[in-house]
Amino acid sequence: MKISVIGTGYVGLVTGVCLTEVGHHVTCVDIDENKVQNMRKGISPIFEPGLEDMMTKNINENRLSFTSDYKEAMKDKEIVFIAVGTPQSKDGSAELTYLKKACKSIAEHMTDDLIVITKSTVPVGTNEYVKELIEKHKNASHKVSVVSNPEFLREGSAIHDTFYGDRIVIGSEEQEALDRVKEVYSSFTLPILETDLRSAEMIKYASNAFLATKISFINELGNLCERLGANIENVSKGMGMDKRIGDKFLNAGVGYGGSCFPKDTNALVSIGHSVGYHMSIVDSVIETNDKQQRIIIDKIKEFYPDLSHKKVAVLGLAFKPNTDDMRDAPSIKVIRELVDNEAEVYAYDPIAEENAKVFLPGGTIYKDSIDETLKDKDFAIIMTDWQEIKEYPLEQLKSQLKHPALFDGRNCFNLERVKESGLEYHSIGRPSIGVREDEEK
Ligand code: UDX
Repeated sequence: MKISVIGTGYVGLVTGVCLTEVGHHVTCVDIDENKVQNMRKGISPIFEPGLEDMMTKNINENRLSFTSDYKEAMKDKEIVFIAVGTPQSKDGSAELTYLKKACKSIAEHMTDDLIVITKSTVPVGTNEYVKELIEKHKNASHKVSVVSNPEFLREGSAIHDTFYGDRIVIGSEEQEALDRVKEVYSSFTLPILETDLRSAEMIKYASNAFLATKISFINELGNLCERLGANIENVSKGMGMDKRIGDKFLNAGVGYGGSCFPKDTNALVSIGHSVGYHMSIVDSVIETNDKQQRIIIDKIKEFYPDLSHKKVAVLGLAFKPNTDDMRDAPSIKVIRELVDNEAEVYAYDPIAEENAKVFLPGGTIYKDSIDETLKDKDFAIIMTDWQEIKEYPLEQLKSQLKHPALFDGRNCFNLERVKESGLEYHSIGRPSIGVREDEEK
């Protein structure tokens, strides 16, 4: 099938490339000419394991092309995916400027009857508006059908999730269009759920808000466990064995970040307001997460009330491992707070340093390895559970620090193992280890 994908962010590029992998011919469109030039050479604008290899292969086999020209992109296409960004606006709602622009350009350049599939996360009812907008701006009497097809890709495993995720959701009021979209996915082995248009739009927000709720719930419980001498890891394990609860997304830590959960939970509350309904649970989830992103600072201040001129090693900056994405990363709040308190911050991330420079305060000093970051610092903090950090020998960590204390925001280490190392260790929702009462800080 001949397909266009508008927008080459995470969702658009991964979707476009994966569709060529199963034999479709795909033109990816982006307004950024520089990005287009690079992608033609197989250079991906985002870090995603396996993506560049798959891009290069399908470019060479003439199934994948890139352009900034809508005329070229829409020529002879019967299917177009919209995958432009819908960032959060000031009032929490989703910003639809890029989507509206994409609709107008599609309308002006379509050359045949068209099925428009929205992958971008959009407020419930938006796909009806997409149809209206394209109908209004199109030049000929071609038929336009709309289908909502939300994505559930995780950064770092987006290709795997495209082929082996849990489901494909497609929603439309037009059965013919749904049947055609099922053909697009005919080589995929995932179950397909067909729904009405508005329910498909809602499934995306509902899923992300529910996952965010699981995280905030376990984090709140972890804070309680700390005060009661229980261990959140054991509690999560016990809860997760109940199949109705499930064992995923029950890891306590420094809160969720990234491009989806913060944006989509805020958007859902805003969607509620737009129809006079207060989403009280989701609202609390957001508030709990805001507090949780600072929790490590509260712990540090208990032991280091005066942070001025303290040398602090921060290991991991990205919002989660295997990505260079810094959007809403908990490390941002923590490092800002440290710098505001006049601490000297030395930071390390295996791949997110370039992006981190955009988000973190100017005084942050970047280091090239864990060793260099730790050397002669007063104490260390872990903000992202990179494999490299989880595998770092604790004895080595202890010997590098001036005061061997580690504040682990991701529960990277087994408590028994920590005890053997003799390190002072504070984590999330678990008892602290090796705290000396007489210590001078
Ligand atoms: C998420 C959804 O999983 C995906 O379906 C959706 O399409 C986009 O948003 P992503 O943002 O890539 O994907 O990250 P994910 O792996 O879900 O993690 C989100 C955040 O939650 C990270 O900051 C992570 O550290 C945190 N998290 C996750 C926890 O704190 N505890 C957990 O148990 C799981």
